[in-house]
Amino acid sequence: MSQLKHLLSSSDLSREAAIEILDVAEEMSGVNNRDIKKLPTLRGKTVVNLFFEDSTRTRISFELAEKRLSADVINFSAKGSSVSKGESLKDTAQTLEAMGADAVVIRHHASGAANVLAHSGWINGAIINAGDGTHEHPTQALLDAFTIRRRIHGGSIGGSKGKGLDGLKIAIVGDVLHSRVARSNLLLLNTLGAEVHLVAPPTLVPANSGDWQAKIHFDFDQVLNEVKPDAVMMLRVQAERMNASYFPSEREYSRVWGMNADRLAMLKPDALLMHPGPMNRGLEITAVAADSKNSTVLEQVANGVSVRMAVLYQLLSGERTTIDA
Ligand code: NCD
Repeated sequence: MSQLKHLLSSSDLSREAAIEILDVAEEMSGVNNRDIKKLPTLRGKTVVNLFFEDSTRTRISFELAEKRLSADVINFSAKGSSVSKGESLKDTAQTLEAMGADAVVIRHHASGAANVLAHSGWINGAIINAGDGTHEHPTQALLDAFTIRRRIHGGSIGGSKGKGLDGLKIAIVGDVLHSRVARSNLLLLNTLGAEVHLVAPPTLVPANSGDWQAKIHFDFDQVLNEVKPDAVMMLRVQAERMNASYFPSEREYSRVWGMNADRLAMLKPDALLMHPGPMNRGLEITAVAADSKNSTVLEQVANGVSVRMAVLYQLLSGERTTIDA
């Protein structure tokens, strides 16, 4: 596989590269099930988590992944740093470079921030995009693909290794317009051979959606009945990114676009019900659905650590060492 320098977008990944990350993640998940969940792979490397936007899952998941690979970890959040004194991304990046960061995991409210950092020349290390504005969140797409592959093909023991998601039907539902999770998933799912269906109110479909490799639907029930998806990904209603009124009321949204007990009953028995978190319970998903046997919400969180270990390993370990080391 050609060595990846950065992970900025799902489109950085060929099918072969994506499957290799998922396969390495299977091995990492074996490490995560051991008593001593630690590998020496990144000993002596410094990884900075640079978070300009709030995060629970993604930040903790990266930190755990880095620590399990024995990297030195620095957590930097804009609150409480010199960014709140007006320091620019450039000065922040140059400071991290001077301290010898081998990789920077960045989450930023501006779409394109990770690309700027990767191509600016301010910093030489690997850049991993942990979510930039409404643009992309590629490690989320990888952990979602890993979760689907595991449930359908049964993990490494069941024979997931080497497999894509060929022929699977995946519905992505809700606030597509503001969702970097939807964008990164759309790209990766297509790379892995899945058929993508977007389900959203017309106001929450991006204007250029005609160029997207997906079927667009405006009737959730019809998709459940006729497409019969293998996985349904619910998106968070991203109120913090909404500068206008995109739907009449929360009650109306949850009735028309939400996952509830009635729609849960319409799923194929073993279909996955996914959500990247944080969930707005009662809005895009009811508690009954979120806590059902179809729900993979906590599996996604657990798998996120293995997948991020795999990404860090691919970007930073250089010469392949054996995972059993
Ligand atoms: C997502 C994000 O921040 O983009 N969450 C996550 O990373 N687990 C989705 C969201 O906030 O809706």
